[in-house]
Amino acid sequence: MKKLIDMITEIVERGFADCGYEGSLGKVTLSNRPDLCEYQCNGAMAGAKLYKKAPIRIANDVVGKLSGNEVFEEVTAVNPGFINMKLSGAFLADYLERMRSGERLGISPAEKPETIVIDYGGPNVAKPLHVGHLRSAIIGESMKRLFRFLGHKVIGDVHLGDWGLQMGLIIEELRERQPELPYFKEDYEGEYPEEAPFTIGELEEIYPAASAKSKKDAGFAEKAHDATFKLQNGNRGYLALWNHILNVSVSDLKKNYEKLGVTFDIWKKESDVQGYIPDMVERMKAEGFAHESQGALVVDVAEETDSKEVPPCILLKSDGATLYSTTDLATLVEREKLFAPDRILYVVDKRQSLHFTQVFRCAKKTGIVRPEVKLCFLGFGTMNGKDGKPFKTRDGGIMRLEYLIREISEAVYGKIMENKSMEEADAKETAKMIGLAALKYGDLSNQAAKDYVFDVERFISFEGDTGPYILYTIVRIKSIQAKYETLTDRHAGEGRILPAASESEKALQLLVSRVQDALLSAFCEQAPHKLCQYVYALSNAFNRFYHETKIMAEEDKERQAAYIRLLGLVRQVLETCIDILGFEAPDRM
Ligand code: ARG
Repeated sequence: MKKLIDMITEIVERGFADCGYEGSLGKVTLSNRPDLCEYQCNGAMAGAKLYKKAPIRIANDVVGKLSGNEVFEEVTAVNPGFINMKLSGAFLADYLERMRSGERLGISPAEKPETIVIDYGGPNVAKPLHVGHLRSAIIGESMKRLFRFLGHKVIGDVHLGDWGLQMGLIIEELRERQPELPYFKEDYEGEYPEEAPFTIGELEEIYPAASAKSKKDAGFAEKAHDATFKLQNGNRGYLALWNHILNVSVSDLKKNYEKLGVTFDIWKKESDVQGYIPDMVERMKAEGFAHESQGALVVDVAEETDSKEVPPCILLKSDGATLYSTTDLATLVEREKLFAPDRILYVVDKRQSLHFTQVFRCAKKTGIVRPEVKLCFLGFGTMNGKDGKPFKTRDGGIMRLEYLIREISEAVYGKIMENKSMEEADAKETAKMIGLAALKYGDLSNQAAKDYVFDVERFISFEGDTGPYILYTIVRIKSIQAKYETLTDRHAGEGRILPAASESEKALQLLVSRVQDALLSAFCEQAPHKLCQYVYALSNAFNRFYHETKIMAEEDKERQAAYIRLLGLVRQVLETCIDILGFEAPDRM
């Protein structure tokens, strides 16, 4: 089904054409004066220059053609030449009816479905999942769900960081603690133990300890570098250890992501693509893209129009070591080979923006990806504490994701128990659902690139632009539906949504009709906050309608049933949107 605004645009364009004007002047936009009209067209103003005619005369001509059209309740020409429109209640109700009876809210899948890889999450093995990775997971998950809803083929890749210095650090630290382990015996030829020599708890303690030591102790740091180098060059014992680290870490990560409602289609790792590097580098040399600079092998990626310097993309350091950029290029080689995607979206901290500019340019320039592949970067800002600094725990440590989820759920739980509205066990479950919504909405409702303040009190408020407020609206609808069904012993499903009987109902209906616009703008602008804005506006419109309308006391049974149908559609729209945002509503709260 077409967007409603496109349907009206077609009609107004025909109106212009029928009067002998250029049809494309008939583009319709949302009214910026909702007190005067619902939609408007400013084409007569542009037409004035073209036809050397007063805009109001053009507008009057067009309005003359449009006024009989049953789509409109009112079309007027207003000085200096605006065309203002109000939709007919019947046309709008009919549109909603089609949304209600169609699949997926009547939204047709993308005409040209794309194959899209999303690179998000990006945790580093053996380091605890912290809030820095939270945003990537939350934003990426919602983009993934949005792409999928719109009919694209999506591959969500966690892209684990498992090939860096952290591995060497852990290996060295382990050697100091347990030198007797077989992994450290040079001449060991037997099988290595199946069981890892550490638990996840220990592993999480080992890494920060090793990292701190390397900063103080240059000898240790050197050894860690050396171990990393040996691992990357196939040392058997180190590879076995690395495997343990990976397994222990990944099962913990999966548990954490599950709590967040985040799932990945593939669990690829940086190490998986190392095999592509030698050929890739050789080809770049042979084809003259790569050259030596201060001992390193680099590809120039600066462009004349750059306002800031874009340094060359480094492939190999002077000692032959590969870098983050080398791995990202090799990952593109693999993604082309495995998926031939139309688009790849990276959801990563915006401080890595220069890195991706270099990688994208290098991949295009050297032909690693086809010229038509869209390489997109969705960079996000930092989550800060109330003090404006990156979020930390009370004792100053990096806040782990699990603690964060626990903290927010507990705050919600306290609130529910205060109201004494629920059994303890139900309250626990409900608090988790609301907490997750609070956390995700609190994040997604900000423009991604901006830093934001993590404010539990505000996020869990049941009022204002928050996740719980949206859930509360859905719960309210559910309870009206249930009441209606028990009181009248019937379902309102059959029959139609009626033309709006009040201003607040019309406003609600108009908003419902615009869900497709919201989804598409979130898609085109890579901006989940656009969807949040919509969901918030729709919730507000619903609550206004609810306060101004006596639904259960309505005497006209047909009208009452029509209200219930409209409510059902509002709920469907809200639930679809929050599912895309990555959370769901409880039955009660
Ligand atoms: N592991 C990286 C980090 O923690 C993020 C990975 C992002 N994705 C990528 N293809 N580079 O910063």
